[in-house]
Amino acid sequence: MINLLVIDDEKEVGTFLSHLFSMKGYKVEVVNSSSEFFQLDLSRQSFQIAMIDLRLPDCDGLSLLQHLKKHQPHCKALIMTGYSTVKTAVEAIKLGASDYIEKPFDDINLLETQVEQLLSTSVPSSQAFIQSLANEAGLVVGKNHAMNKLIDATFKVSQKNVNVLIEGETGTGKEVLSRFIHLASPRSHESFIGVNCGAISESLLESELFGHEKGAFTGATQQRKGLFEIASNGTLFLDEIADASQAIQVKLLRVLETREFMRVGSVQTLRTNARVVAASNENLQQAVLQKKFREDLFYRLNVVHLEIPPLRDRKEDIPLLVNHLIQRNGYTSVNFTDGAYEKLQNYDWPGNIRELANVVTRTLTLTDDENTEITADEIILSAVAAPLKGKSSSEQTISIPKDPLEQWRETLVKEFEQSDKINLDDILLQVKQLESLIGRELVLQALQKTYGNRTEAARCLQISMRKLRYILNEKTNTTHT
Ligand SMILES: Nc1ncnc2c1ncn2[C@@H]1O[C@H](COP(=O)(O)OP(=O)(O)OP(=O)(O)O)[C@@H](O)[C@H]1O
Ligand SMILES: [Mg+2]
Repeated sequence: MINLLVIDDEKEVGTFLSHLFSMKGYKVEVVNSSSEFFQLDLSRQSFQIAMIDLRLPDCDGLSLLQHLKKHQPHCKALIMTGYSTVKTAVEAIKLGASDYIEKPFDDINLLETQVEQLLSTSVPSSQAFIQSLANEAGLVVGKNHAMNKLIDATFKVSQKNVNVLIEGETGTGKEVLSRFIHLASPRSHESFIGVNCGAISESLLESELFGHEKGAFTGATQQRKGLFEIASNGTLFLDEIADASQAIQVKLLRVLETREFMRVGSVQTLRTNARVVAASNENLQQAVLQKKFREDLFYRLNVVHLEIPPLRDRKEDIPLLVNHLIQRNGYTSVNFTDGAYEKLQNYDWPGNIRELANVVTRTLTLTDDENTEITADEIILSAVAAPLKGKSSSEQTISIPKDPLEQWRETLVKEFEQSDKINLDDILLQVKQLESLIGRELVLQALQKTYGNRTEAARCLQISMRKLRYILNEKTNTTHT
């Protein structure tokens, strides 16, 4: 016999569910308040499934859920929620609920199926399963408690079709985590597509996201599908979302609210089912307060909020990460000595795991082939100070490679002379990507050289603090000095 518990202050809901599931042969217990719930003897009465309305007049439903899961961890909790409380339902999933259903129940068949599925299947959520998905996503999960909690919560919410906002400093692994969400979700066999909202022009981004019709603008020689269409059943990763212009924000809001959008140059409305995962280096709530980011869009994206801790707060994971990075570089028999790990753990990593990856790659590249043990002395935390083995000091000077850029410019000009078409948007995109790559690399190197002192780093680079922060993506201003 299946024992079902219903917790809802609306008496009619209790009566309805009791009737519906008693007909299917379940034994249904209904309570209408938290005080009635606490009168239940959970040590004697065991439930396989509990349907819980979190909004009870006399108690916070989340604490009631926690109490139930503590006493009956195997009981599957199905949260009943109105649209306005979806965010709380997602909170409940983080706390151990299995699923949620929106009230009022439009489709009774769906309700029955959801309950039956919960009873018959269980998503494998063992640590080994989570670990294997994380490996697949290239995500090392170490010992750090906060990180482990984050991964568990991420796994749970990945099962639900809700938008996710990932925040964290540069290089902390926001993109890797978004891949993990996709792989752990029921959409894993569909496509995962990412777009960087800060790297391309507003018009190019609009056509990337929503597609365009043939002739919609100069250069639109054929119709093109946008990412909301291509990733319609999959996951769309909106990276550096804080950099999206106001116009793009309005369009994103519309598609997130209605699931509808139009290709540029078209009046036909298309629908998308894409799940959106957005990421930002910048604190988006702060950006809302500064009126740089729309509040309504923020709430649409921020249904689930995941914050990745910086590497300096999880230094105990550095050895595991280093081993992963050694293997990723294709080395099988190289080890770091304890002293080497100590040196890495004594550093603050302003560029987080990306910086660690650069340091490991650089160290491995500079070491002799037959060397299997890397010592502290061989680790160069600052790339600029790295003496290249076997080269004279004059060969070590860093020079700006003017020639290749100049050559490229000449090639482009010639190419356009000889044909009557050239894709300027594509070219400017490449220039912008190169600019942001060079900017970031040099800022990170300057921060390494100055041990994280930003004022000093800005001075070395002969730029303002404001520009340094802009390059690190902490500011969305485009009018930097
Ligand atoms: N937990 C992790 N395990 C293994 N590698 C990781 C992990 N987190 C990040 N990395 C590696 O660190 C680098 C940066 O990760 P990622 O691009 O996901 O960071 P990010 O937060 O998106 O950075 P940015 O804000 O600069 O875009 C990548 O090479 C990635 O593979
Ligand atoms: Mg990223």
